[in-house]
This record gives sequence, C-alpha cells and structure tokens, in this order.
Amino acid sequence: MASSRLLLAVAVVAGCAVGLAGATDHIVGANRGWNPNINYTLWSGNQTFVVGDLISFRYQKGTHNVFEVNQTGYDNCTMAGVAGNWTSGKDFIPLREPGRHFFICGNGLCQAGMKVAVTVLPGAFEGTQMVPPPDSHSTASDAAAAGATCFAAAAWLTVAALAVAIAAVA
Ligand SMILES: *[C@@H]1O[C@H](CO)[C@@H](O)[C@H](O)[C@H]1NC(C)=O
Ligand SMILES: *[C@@H]1O[C@H](CO)[C@@H](O)[C@H](O)[C@H]1NC(C)=O
Ligand SMILES: *[C@@H]1O[C@H](CO)[C@@H](O)[C@H](O)[C@H]1NC(C)=O
Ligand SMILES: *[C@@H]1O[C@H](CO)[C@@H](O)[C@H](O)[C@H]1NC(C)=O
Ligand SMILES: *[C@@H]1O[C@H](CO)[C@@H](O)[C@H](O)[C@H]1NC(C)=O
Repeated sequence: MASSRLLLAVAVVAGCAVGLAGATDHIVGANRGWNPNINYTLWSGNQTFVVGDLISFRYQKGTHNVFEVNQTGYDNCTMAGVAGNWTSGKDFIPLREPGRHFFICGNGLCQAGMKVAVTVLPGAFEGTQMVPPPDSHSTASDAAAAGATCFAAAAWLTVAALAVAIAAVA
C-alpha cells in the first residue's frame, strides 16, 4: 500500500521532470534570427509549440524589438492588443497560455515581414485530459492544477524519503 503510493508519487514527479526537461526553445528564424524579409509563416509552420516552451528572438539590440499584440495588431502591423514588449536583442519569452500568439517588430519593419504568429498547444498534463470545447476557459486553471499536483507530489515524496531515512537510522 505505502510502496504503491510511493511509486505513484515517483511517477508523478518523474512526469513533472520530463515536462520541464522537454521544454523547447524555438529560435525565431533559426540562424537567420529576427530580421526583415524573412517569411516567418514558413518558419512557424515547421515548429510545434507546447505550453511551457520558449520562443526566443535574436537581433541587434537597438535596431529591432519585439511586441506581443493580438490578431488585429498582427494583421495590420499596429499595437492593437499590445501585451508586452522586449528589447534586449536576445529575448526569451515563455509561452504560458495555449492558443494563438502574435509578435511583431515595433520599429516599422513589421510591414517588411517582421511578424510571426504561433499556435501553442496545451502541455502534456492538459493533453492527457478530456479535450475541452474550443472556447473553454478552463485551460489556465488546468495548468495551475497540474503545477499544484507536481508540487504536492514532490512534497509528499520528500516526506516519504525522510520517513524511510529515519526508519533506516532507527
Ligand atoms: C509566406 O509563405 C506562406 C506559405 O507559403 C505564404 O502563404 C505567404 O504568402 C508568404 N508570405 C509572404 C509575405 O510572402
Ligand atoms: C522545415 O523542416 C524540414 C525538416 O526539418 C526542413 O527540411 C525544412 O527546410 C524546414 N523548412 C523551413 C522553412 O524551415
Ligand atoms: C485590421 O485587420 C483586420 C483583418 O484582420 C481588418 O478587418 C480591420 O479592418 C483592420 N483594422 C484596421 C484599423 O486597419
Ligand atoms: C485587439 O485589441 C484591440 C484594442 O484593445 C481591440 O480593439 C481588438 O478588437 C482586438 N482584436 C482582437 C482580434 O481581439
Ligand atoms: C514596454 O513594457 C514596459 C514594461 O515592461 C512598459 O512599461 C512600457 O510601457 C511598454 N512600452 C510600450 C510602448 O508598450
């Protein structure tokens, strides 16, 4: 009984670790980076983005930048729905929510193709659950619940390991 619970906790923690270790850094444009006159639709179509992955933008600091906007901003190269901006030249942006995400350059070169749209798929935990209806609002709380499960399992495993250690000493 105790050992099967321990096994379960080990399995859950291992699953959490795999989820973390499996995070991919998607470098926009690969070795061409974030620059004008690149078709980023071709690039993004070749990637599979999952919640927990990173999207990273590499460019000459001060020349370009990155703004997250909504679909209207992406379609029209405007700041509509702006949700964040990055300027370091080597920006790592975590993809925390499933769905469509839109990034553009804010220095006028969006019109020259510096725009990228990505579709982020639910992570492994959500993927193992029933598929939610398309406009379900439950995904963020699902992700939080999965995180809480990892934390609880890790805490339980620590206590169990301590108990085993104490039993061994006694
Ligand atoms: C980029 O490539 C896609 C897919 O081939 C194409 O539909 C789109 O028109 C291209 N965009 C530009 C700006 O050339
Ligand atoms: C997409 O990926 C394939 C296989 O890795 C590669 O051969 C191809 O060049 C990639 N296309 C683009 C536009 O990056
Ligand atoms: C922005 O693009 C959308 C299409 O995605 C279009 O319907 C809308 O009229 C455009 N808005 C502006 C202000 O250009
Ligand atoms: C994007 O944001 C603008 C400004 O908040 C809003 O008017 C527009 O409807 C939004 N577009 C979408 C597709 O959500
Ligand atoms: C860029 O982001 C910073 C916070 O990170 C914010 O203070 C600033 O207003 C943003 N700039 C624009 C143009 O949205």
